[in-house]
Amino acid sequence: MRILVTGAAGFIGSHYVRTLLSGGYPGYEDAEVTVLDKLTYAGNLANLDPVAGRFSFTRGDICDAALLADGVAAAQEVIVSPDAGANVKVTLRRDSVPQPPSGRKML
Ligand SMILES: NC(=O)c1ccc[n+]([C@@H]2O[C@H](COP(=O)([O-])OP(=O)(O)OC[C@H]3O[C@@H](n4cnc5c(N)ncnc54)[C@H](O)[C@@H]3O)[C@@H](O)[C@H]2O)c1
Repeated sequence: MRILVTGAAGFIGSHYVRTLLSGGYPGYEDAEVTVLDKLTYAGNLANLDPVAGRFSFTRGDICDAALLADGVAAAQEVIVSPDAGANVKVTLRRDSVPQPPSGRKML
């Protein structure tokens, strides 16, 4: 199964991907995982070090329609999308764009 995980360099997304690729969800051990993450102040690829090499990574924004249309999203069977900053105040101040609702619609 091809699974796209957006925001996977963050707290919840990285936990999900590490668990998934470590056999924590029986039946999904062979999942082909694509990570799409904008790498904001909250995103850190080191969170995925324990499963490095077992997923493909694209740095990008879920609000980028061209990127999604280019195949990142289209080639997937399942999309898991824990990609909004947990700290809303900091996210709005530092990234200064209202994001995931519109991006999630496109996904
Ligand atoms: N952490 C919690 O305890 C908790 C609890 C309940 C719900 N949530 C919700 O889960 C979601 C994720 O929380 P988290 O703690 O993992 O947040 P986080 O800030 O640790 O991670 C968010 C990730 O999303 C990425 N990201 C942000 N905007 C993006 C965009 N436009 N395109 C692509 N990537 C983008 C960031 O780079 C980061 O890697 C949030 O919506 C949050 O409100 C979190």
